Parts: sequence; C-alpha cells; structure tokens
Amino acid sequence: MTEHPAPDSPQADKAPRTQDGTARPITPGSQAAQGTYRAQPVSFVRRGTRLQGRRQKAWDDHSATLAVDIPRHISDTSVHPDYVFDAAAEFGREAPLVVEIGSGLGDAVVHAAKENPGKDFLAVEVYTPGLAQTIQKIVSAELRNVRVVQANAPEVLGTMLPAGSVSEVWVFFPDPWHKTKHNKRRMVKDTFAPLVARVLAPGGLWRLATDWSGYAEQMRAVGVASPDFDNMHDGERTGSASPLTQARLTGVDCEQSDEPDTGGGWAPRFDGRILTSFENKAHKAGRVIFDLTFRRK
Ligand SMILES: C[S@@+](CC[C@H](N)C(=O)[O-])C[C@H]1O[C@@H](n2cnc3c(N)ncnc32)[C@H](O)[C@@H]1O
Repeated sequence: MTEHPAPDSPQADKAPRTQDGTARPITPGSQAAQGTYRAQPVSFVRRGTRLQGRRQKAWDDHSATLAVDIPRHISDTSVHPDYVFDAAAEFGREAPLVVEIGSGLGDAVVHAAKENPGKDFLAVEVYTPGLAQTIQKIVSAELRNVRVVQANAPEVLGTMLPAGSVSEVWVFFPDPWHKTKHNKRRMVKDTFAPLVARVLAPGGLWRLATDWSGYAEQMRAVGVASPDFDNMHDGERTGSASPLTQARLTGVDCEQSDEPDTGGGWAPRFDGRILTSFENKAHKAGRVIFDLTFRRK
C-alpha cells in the first residue's frame, strides 16, 4: 500500500481534500479546520484520495451499492450526528454484524466475509484508495455480506451505529503514532473504549492487534481500565511467554531490557485475522505482534 498516508509526515496537518485532489473549503475555527473530533485530534491524515484505473472503475461501478451513503456534518469523513445505520435494511437480513475499524486494503474483512457467510461485515476506513480496493475484492469474490463506509471511526461508533447492535469490533494495526509528541493521535485511548462499548451487544468482542509494543501496552491499559470490558485472557502469557517480554529482549521498537512482563493478558493470534501487508512489514522489521481480546460485560 505504497500511497498510504504516512502519519508522521510533515504534511500531516493538511486540510481535507475532495476526491479530485482539490482542497476542500473548511470553516475557520470548525472542528474540520482543527483536524479534531470532539476537541481531540483525529487519528488519520487525508492524503492520497485520488483513484486511478481499476480502483476508479470499481468505485464508479460499485460504490453506489457497496459504500454506505451517509449524510456528512463538518467534513467529508464526518457522520451527521442524526444519521443511524440500519444493518437489516442494508443487508436485507438479520445477522451478527462485525465492524472492522481502519480496514486498509480490505484483506482481513474480505477474507472473514468469505469464511463467514452467516455474518455481515462493515469496513470503516477514511482512505479512498483502500476503500476502492476493498470494493474490488468484494466484487471479485461476489460477496453480499460486506459494506464499506468512508468515515471517521469514533463518529461511526459514537452515533452512526445503534447501541448494542454489533457482535464484534476489530481494530487491527491502527496507525501507531509512535513518536511521543504524536501519541495523542492514537485511536485506541481511554475515550475510545466507551465508544466501542456503546455499539457492542453484551458478550460482544473487541479484538485488537498491533506491532508496536508501546501501543500494545496502551491498548491493554485502556481495556483493563474500562468498566465495560473483561480481558478474555487475563493473566495469560506472562514472563517469557509474553510478547512484550520478547519485544523488550529484541529492543527493536522499545528500550532493550531483560525485564519480564508480569502483567500478561495477551490473546493468542486470532485465527480469523489473515496476514496483511502491514503485518508482513512488521515481521520483516523484527517487530513482535500483540493480540488482545476484550469481552463486553
Ligand atoms: C496501519 S493501517 C492498517 C490497515 C489494516 N487494518 C491492516 O492491518 O492491513 C491503519 C488504517 O486505519 C485507517 N484509519 C486511521 N484512523 C482512522 C479513523 N479515525 N477512522 C477510520 N479509519 C482510520 C487508516 O486510513 C489506515 O488505512
């Protein structure tokens, strides 16, 4: 995914752009102008929205049926707060709904949709080429149980999805924003957990994966601190079995140390999560993969 936005790039605070690449007019002083949602910085940057070739054709031919058409609010990735998604009407049936946040090129969601025809899937992404590529994959696999939505995830979770309507929320390899000065842009933080809790039905699962040890620790802390979730693997994979201990020993993305992780709580690799190009890059760079699963109380 070479044209993927680089979160730490100097262009990170560029104004939103329309699909043809022109700057979108934004109201000075609005949330869009600030790059914020509810006074918090958004977890993405808008770049690389242009489509070409097969991606453009897939978008032109199929976005009307496969991309959820939502009313906007303050920017082209916002969700109007009055809009509520009706999954039964969209998919023409009642089925468990799995929501993938930051679905990238759509590899995980399309694979899962093929494997689970009895479930419906919603891929939430802001990156236009990623959405177009996901649409291409949905069409070529002739899937009827996947939709994509181009929107800022906290707004999808905060207002667009009905409370308690989702069986699983997946957040796989969210942008790490690993420089300390950018940590505040991370999606998974204390204010994000209540949004996930809001949409999940009781017993619903929040699955996470990351290849950055500092972010993994933050995710674990967020889930453990939330009154709405239980860690399904509480106390598991401590000491030498912990991926955090392994990451510390390698020192690839954190200070090298032989201090064991006594907290544990890491999930085994979720077998419904296929290897994406992001994870592949992480393996090549020698980074350790962390999985977490929290259950909605
Ligand atoms: C590092 S990529 C990982 C993609 C995919 N999950 C994978 O594992 O291949 C993170 C993705 O999250 C998307 N993203 C970041 N913040 C988002 C937000 N607030 N709402 C929706 N998508 C977001 C980015 O555009 C990017 O495609």
